Amino acid sequence: MKNIVVLISGSGSNLQAIIDICESGKIQAKVTAVFSNKSDAYGLERAKTHGIPTHALSVQDYLGGEGKPDRQAFDTELMTQIDTYQPDLIILAGYMRILSPNFVQHYLGKMLNIHPSLLPKYSGLHTHQRAIDADDTEHGTSVHFVTEELDGGPVILQAKVPVFEDDTADDLAQRVLVQEHHIYPLVTKWFIEGRLSMKDGQAYLDAIALGLHGYAED
Ligand code: GAR
Repeated sequence: MKNIVVLISGSGSNLQAIIDICESGKIQAKVTAVFSNKSDAYGLERAKTHGIPTHALSVQDYLGGEGKPDRQAFDTELMTQIDTYQPDLIILAGYMRILSPNFVQHYLGKMLNIHPSLLPKYSGLHTHQRAIDADDTEHGTSVHFVTEELDGGPVILQAKVPVFEDDTADDLAQRVLVQEHHIYPLVTKWFIEGRLSMKDGQAYLDAIALGLHGYAED
């Protein structure tokens, strides 16, 4: 049985999808802990419902010079606590904090993120509104390995959704979430089965290098 640690900041619907595939027995893994940088993240309640240990760390408890948040100190403590669970895989599921380089290096090749855009388009925030503002006719989501470049690690799998004329950012976010709940558990399964890897910034599935848009990009 492999150990998965999930990091969240909000609703945790992707966390739920990961918990569900683990509990279904379709993968030989379990979510052993959930961490959040927000103590009121609803995802923490979801985890508790499933008897999964939760931890909330507040940025306010890790302040450096001039009272500014000390990212390194926060991430070091987070890393220390995560490692007590001896995770095989770290899953970022709506974790809305930039990671320090040390943190990324520590989990390199075993940390995944889901980002609500068709990367490399729209890294960063407000992806749904940006797709609407650009008159895009399609939008989507990407699962990728985490590297030091924000939302810049190699893509493993994407899912596309249409953008309709009268869509709001919220409409689009909901449509994207539905797809996320399919592709994140699938990629998790691939990882747990040992089919996925990253080497020199390149993602591989079954030892075959994946392209810019990941698996099945055509
Ligand atoms: C998801 O749409 C995920 O792609 C996005 O946050 C949402 C979290 O939803 N992640 C990012 O924007 C990361 N840059 P959830 O809490 O219901 O899983």
